[in-house]
Amino acid sequence: MDSTSRSKLNAGPFLDYCISQFGWTDLSNDTVLDIGCGKHLNLATALLEKFSKVKSVVNIDRNPEIVVHARRLIRRKILKCHVADIEDRDSLEGFEGRINKVISTYTFHHIRKIKEAFRNVHLVLRPGGEAGFLFYIRSGAHEWLTEMLSKPKWKAIYKGEDILDLLPQELSSAKYQTMVLKLGFTIVECHEEIRVTPCASDEICKEALYKLTQKFFNIPSELLDDFKEDAFKTFVKIHGRNRMGKPRFTATELFLLIRKSVTKLRNIRMLKWQHLTRALRRVPVMRSNNKMVVRLPSRR
Ligand SMILES: C[S@@+](CC[C@H](N)C(=O)[O-])C[C@H]1O[C@@H](n2cnc3c(N)ncnc32)[C@H](O)[C@@H]1O
Repeated sequence: MDSTSRSKLNAGPFLDYCISQFGWTDLSNDTVLDIGCGKHLNLATALLEKFSKVKSVVNIDRNPEIVVHARRLIRRKILKCHVADIEDRDSLEGFEGRINKVISTYTFHHIRKIKEAFRNVHLVLRPGGEAGFLFYIRSGAHEWLTEMLSKPKWKAIYKGEDILDLLPQELSSAKYQTMVLKLGFTIVECHEEIRVTPCASDEICKEALYKLTQKFFNIPSELLDDFKEDAFKTFVKIHGRNRMGKPRFTATELFLLIRKSVTKLRNIRMLKWQHLTRALRRVPVMRSNNKMVVRLPSRR
């Protein structure tokens, strides 16, 4: 199974999970944001099947080509699609505090500045707004690359750049939880699941792996078959085969469901109010030398 059909299959169950955990019943007044929507708009399509009366679904992706492709699928006015990068605050201008729900599948493991991304999720959400994420926290990609690069012939042609596209951030779920709590979210649900996805055949797996990894290597044509074969062998060594003998992909997924706390905002408002009242209590006094001074009322 390729990653596209896997995402499509998982979109519905992931939304069902969000619906049951957050208790979503009516989204007719809600603006929903899908981060990293992808060209097939899998989540938005599944969401509209469940809530035909959602106020609007904003889909963002940092890749302009994907957005062009996704826009072709749009049939309803309530669906929008924009180029925006969740790591870049400037690209989210106009969304601040306007989003009621955030949903995102298989995107957050591609994020480089993960804290910045969650901070921006906090920025776009309304107080009390909810966000559901599903992404890999372990995928075996580090082992695969380490093993490949232990061989001089692959190390010599490795580009060594942009590797996060291939290698998800491998943080523990505890680290993610601490991070979002510090940013002012509460955790509604957080758990890991190991997902085992079988490939239909060795050949399909080999080609899919090559498609995914070739951009990170400068592979000369005379080494192409050798590369494909070794990449696949390394993959099978890490992930193994199922009982039917088919190669499989094993990854740990994180389900992270969070809510923007209202308290932090209240705290900020309270702090601002305290500053204001303290400032008002400062009494300006004109001195004989024409300089203004501020006298603070004495504390009792
Ligand atoms: C594996 S695809 C998942 C697509 C879709 N969510 C799904 O599950 O079918 C990841 C998508 O996230 C996008 N993406 C990666 N980093 C992003 C970022 N920082 N901001 C917005 N989109 C991002 C990629 O361009 C890609 O389309």
